[in-house]
This record gives sequence, C-alpha cells and structure tokens, in this order.
Amino acid sequence: MAKVLIVYGSTTGNTQTTAEIVGTELKNAGHDAVVNDVTAVEAEGLCEGYDAVLFGCSTWGDEEIELQDDFIDLYDELDKAGLSGVKVGCFGCGDSSYQWFCGAVDAIEERAKENGARIICDSLKIDGDPGSCRSEIADWASAVGAAL
Ligand SMILES: Cc1cc2nc3c(=O)[nH]c(=O)nc-3n(C[C@H](O)[C@H](O)[C@H](O)COP(=O)(O)O)c2cc1C
Repeated sequence: MAKVLIVYGSTTGNTQTTAEIVGTELKNAGHDAVVNDVTAVEAEGLCEGYDAVLFGCSTWGDEEIELQDDFIDLYDELDKAGLSGVKVGCFGCGDSSYQWFCGAVDAIEERAKENGARIICDSLKIDGDPGSCRSEIADWASAVGAAL
C-alpha cells in the first residue's frame, strides 16, 4: 500500500471531479489516497510522508498557457515541495479546441522534473467533461497504481 497525495486546482469542477475519481480508484486498489484542493496545501514540505504525489490542474488563457488561478502559487514555489526522488504523475482537464491543449499539465510536469521528481507515467489530459471519461481516468489510475 502506498500513500498518495493528490493536489488539484479547478475552477469549474472538472479537474476536481477527475482528482476524486483517481482518488477513489487508488483507494479501491488498496492505496491510501488523500485528495486536496490546492488552496488547502502549502508548498513547503508538501511531499513529506507521501510515496507519490499527483498534480491536477486545468489550463486557461488564449494567447499563452495559463495555469488554473489557485495553482499558480504552488507552481511558483514547487522548489520548496521536496520533490527530489518523489514519484509524480500529472493530470488535468482542458479543451482540445485551444492551441495549447492541457498546456498547464505539461508545464507542471516540466517544473516537477526540474525539481528532481520521478515521473511515473504519461500525463492524463481530459478533453471536456470528465464524467464521460470515467474509464480513461480509471485506466490512468491503474497505471499510476502499477508504478507505485
Ligand atoms: C477563457 C478560457 C480559456 C481556456 N484556455 C484553455 C487552454 O489554453 N487549453 C485548454 O486545454 N483548455 C482551455 N480552456 C478549457 C478549460 O481548461 C476546461 O473548461 C477545463 O475543463 C476546466 O477545468 P476546471 O473546471 O477543472 O477548471 C479554457 C477555457 C476558457 C473558458
């Protein structure tokens, strides 16, 4: 059993729904998963006590990649999170009609790598309503679980 922290930033609830589905799937697989809104956590020592951390964030902005508002502070302070050697996976919701589909997910993954994280699986990018992508989300949670 691994202890997994899932931290999400979500404006309209889509990435929150995704985070909750991932958390439920990991719990059903026997892992200890904690799901937190990014506004409820601090960067300092974020990873302490966890075997893995999953970051979820939606993408906003037309002219450039913009992270979901609440996630920006954590992104800026990710160097304080103690990511070195920590298993990390990234996910988020977006809309493929935008130029940078789920660009925030790629940006967070890149920043996590720069801080020494071990990316454990390909990121999950949900196009549209996560409620209609439950099997895709469950498959991703299985891939995460297998890498723990
Ligand atoms: C003004 C605006 C800008 C957006 N920009 C992007 C974007 O650049 N890339 C993308 O993949 N999705 C973009 N989206 C789509 C949102 O990321 C999508 O609706 C997502 O499901 C919201 O997730 P949340 O409810 O977790 O915040 C944009 C939506 C709006 C309204």
